[in-house]
Amino acid sequence: MVEEIDVNNSDGSEPLPGPQHVPVGPNISAQYFELERQRIFRRVWLQIGRAEAVPNPGDFFVRRLEVLGTSVLVVRGRDGQLRAFHNLCRHRGNRLVNQPHGSARAFTCGFHGWTYDCEGALVGIPLESEFRGCDRAQLGLIPLALDVWEGFIFVHLQTSPETSLRKYLEPISGMLDGFPFAEMELSGWWGATLTANWKTFQDAFIEAYHVLAVHRRSIPDFRADPIVPSAQPLGRHCKLTYYQNLHHKPKPAEALAFKLGSAAFLNVNNTDQLPNRRWPSLNVENRDNWVFDEFVIFPNFHLFLGDGWMLCHEFWPIDVDHTNWQVKYYQRRTTSPAVRIAQEYSKVAMRDAIREDLSTIESTHAAQRSGVMAFMTLSPTLESLIVHHHNTVAGFVKGLDT
Ligand code: FES
Ligand SMILES: [Fe+2]
Repeated sequence: MVEEIDVNNSDGSEPLPGPQHVPVGPNISAQYFELERQRIFRRVWLQIGRAEAVPNPGDFFVRRLEVLGTSVLVVRGRDGQLRAFHNLCRHRGNRLVNQPHGSARAFTCGFHGWTYDCEGALVGIPLESEFRGCDRAQLGLIPLALDVWEGFIFVHLQTSPETSLRKYLEPISGMLDGFPFAEMELSGWWGATLTANWKTFQDAFIEAYHVLAVHRRSIPDFRADPIVPSAQPLGRHCKLTYYQNLHHKPKPAEALAFKLGSAAFLNVNNTDQLPNRRWPSLNVENRDNWVFDEFVIFPNFHLFLGDGWMLCHEFWPIDVDHTNWQVKYYQRRTTSPAVRIAQEYSKVAMRDAIREDLSTIESTHAAQRSGVMAFMTLSPTLESLIVHHHNTVAGFVKGLDT
């Protein structure tokens, strides 16, 4: 699906990599989207949240996943195990749980009152004598596979996936096993549904080429020099490492916030004792101007790791033209008011930058939808991971698991 154009130098030297052309057809075709739904989303592990959001027996949350055509109930059982079920009652299929999250001893369907425990077993049928011969044991909630890696909850539509979560995440699982995710707590979350294909949405977050233009207001000198990030395909996944201009001139409020000392977004002069930049798979080039690494976990989960913070993006397709996006910002737990001030500054800076990112996505999709433009012309260095991601999607759609 992706055409690469070689450019030969007239002096006979090694050809320079030429621009890469990615067709827009897969971003606007309903037929292609249906193939993505069947051959990607119904066949891979999908990240849907953090385990600390449901710490106690009976804690649950519900996610409507349009791309799978189902609503998913994640609940911690009395045995401490997390499980995932289709959020539907086995009697006639009514939606079982309507609350987005909470804590429950059992779940009772609002239609006729069938009741399920937190392990998914059917434990109560009103007027059960009228259902003679009905075997409760066969009518528990319908499970999805669920597994947890480093606190991230993943589900898989199949109940016994061929590939384990750990294997699916390779090599990222090995690179981040033991990473101190638990030191961080949720500090900000945002979401939106945009009129854009899910890949177009993601494309805005897997390159830093846009920073000088899109972020000219919020972080104008973040990349004042032409700093090229390091891009690395990792099988079906990939990784991008971002660097910043060390001569960045902080605004007065920013200077004040960071004087207080904190590992936080945009603050490279942090004084924390345990900066993540020393983690072996982060900042592998050991550069002073490292800001963060972004792990793109196929198909729709982006994990950004910086010093003392992480950002989790989820891109959930609704249909070929609509995507629901959820982003959560985590920062290292602290009891220091001074550090908290710096962190709050970072959170607001992150929010503002993300708002700018959203400004281009719908118009890009609308232009592609017009059919006027057949392909995008991408830099083989600055935008290589967009090509990688589209190639990976195409591989799945063709049935060649990559
Ligand atoms: S559909 Fe749930 S009890 Fe009837
Ligand atoms: Fe951006």
